[in-house]
Amino acid sequence: MKEFVCFFLLIGLIACKESASKINTSPRQEVFSNTDSEQQLKVLTERALIDLAKIKFDSLQIPRSIQADGKLKGTPSKSWTSGFYPGMLWQLYGYSKNEKLKEAAMQWSAVVEKEKWDGGTHDLGFKIYCPFGNAYKITNDEKYKAVFLTAAKTLSTRFNDKVGAIRSWDHHEHIWNYPVIIDNMMNLEMLFEATRLTGDSSFYHIANQHANKTLENHFRKDNSSFHVIDYDPDTGKVNKKNTHQGYRDDSAWSRGQAWGLYGFTATYRYTRVEKHLDQAKKIAEFIFSHPNLPADFIPYWDYDAPNIPNEPRDVSAAAIAASGLFELSIHDPENAEKYQNWANKILKSLASEKYLCTSPPFFLKHSVGSIPDKFEMDSPIIYADYFYVEALLRKEKIKS
Ligand code: GLY
Repeated sequence: MKEFVCFFLLIGLIACKESASKINTSPRQEVFSNTDSEQQLKVLTERALIDLAKIKFDSLQIPRSIQADGKLKGTPSKSWTSGFYPGMLWQLYGYSKNEKLKEAAMQWSAVVEKEKWDGGTHDLGFKIYCPFGNAYKITNDEKYKAVFLTAAKTLSTRFNDKVGAIRSWDHHEHIWNYPVIIDNMMNLEMLFEATRLTGDSSFYHIANQHANKTLENHFRKDNSSFHVIDYDPDTGKVNKKNTHQGYRDDSAWSRGQAWGLYGFTATYRYTRVEKHLDQAKKIAEFIFSHPNLPADFIPYWDYDAPNIPNEPRDVSAAAIAASGLFELSIHDPENAEKYQNWANKILKSLASEKYLCTSPPFFLKHSVGSIPDKFEMDSPIIYADYFYVEALLRKEKIKS
């Protein structure tokens, strides 16, 4: 009888092992079982290639999210998110050198290019620098550089000397006169790079002043940041300190904290001004010592959300922070190990079944667009994928 039971146990074990290895032949599932960044990048590249065939090219439907009915939610180029899908394809092309990814990256980028002329928004860094900055870095082709240099000139027109910052939004005029949001730190890299490549220091001065003004008015004593600071454009004085996508004016909106961490780290890369690095370090400490940060390091959508732990997570905030931390670790060797450990913990969580997405062309689920506006309240969102891939690439670069 004993032998009989053992025999069946053995057969059961073999069957389990076989079915596990079958599961692992699916590129998506492989990520679950392998948290090595090199392996993850290989699998994500494979996934992106498979998904290319499933995503119909449509110039007005650039992948952004998944709708409630399970269909792809696309956006036209005007949306702030339009550059992330082509930007991500460029990143994966840079990694794999697969020509199919390059063709697709070129096709989707071409749709977004005209946004370089749109002076009605601050989102030019996201829209233009994510695809064309990557395209230039990877191919060295001057035509891509020309695109983001034009966008840098357009973005510069939104700078007001009196305020000392770039105006973020033109909408909500009934609430704000001259709104500057923490997200705007993410547009500075394109300006700094424009100066580096052309020698025209005007871009640098705008970006540097914007960072200093943000430092002056966006941060609280605990180093969390407000989302929106409204200025008087004639006097430069602060009118209001508000939120738009956070829970309350005085709460810590998770993605905003991640934009600040990433933005000040990238700014320090160009300015080498100690207070920029210090701010990035302080934001990192705020995030990673926060009592409401879950054990897997994927934050709730706002650190002060009212019903924690029953609140949506924001995977995008985690992915942005991970990428920022890898760069921060380069600038602060003394704390490098700590920052890399935090980032690795995020990457490990993101590669788990809980967060990986099965709907093409998305890699991650459980991001939040805007809870107050009631959209994308718990969805796959393309910018989470963009920064996830970037974080993996940065990790690889540090390792090599
Ligand atoms: N930049 C807009 C957002 O983070 O939702």
